[in-house]
Amino acid sequence: MKNNPVPYQKIVFVCLNERPSGVCCAGGGSETIHAQLKAAVKARGLDALVRVSRAGCLNQCAQGPNVMVFPDNRWYSNVTESDVPGILDELVNNVVAPG
Ligand code: FES
Repeated sequence: MKNNPVPYQKIVFVCLNERPSGVCCAGGGSETIHAQLKAAVKARGLDALVRVSRAGCLNQCAQGPNVMVFPDNRWYSNVTESDVPGILDELVNNVVAPG
């Protein structure tokens, strides 16, 4: 095993869990939110610094879609597609390009 530092400045976890009841992040459109965040990070040229990852259930299903950002200690709930630009602006605020 190698013990390495985290290779990203930010990691964004988007819950994509789906429940039969429909009370879940997937039921609120989290697949689209994940795709939009990922595309927006790439469009800003930050994909080497910011990782947008799929997450399983975060146990806050009724507040979904849920998005959490590390190491910012931010938890966005009831996220809609219209929230994506604001989340992106906030999370890239202190990302520092190498060099
Ligand atoms: S389904 Fe997303 S928190 Fe449970």
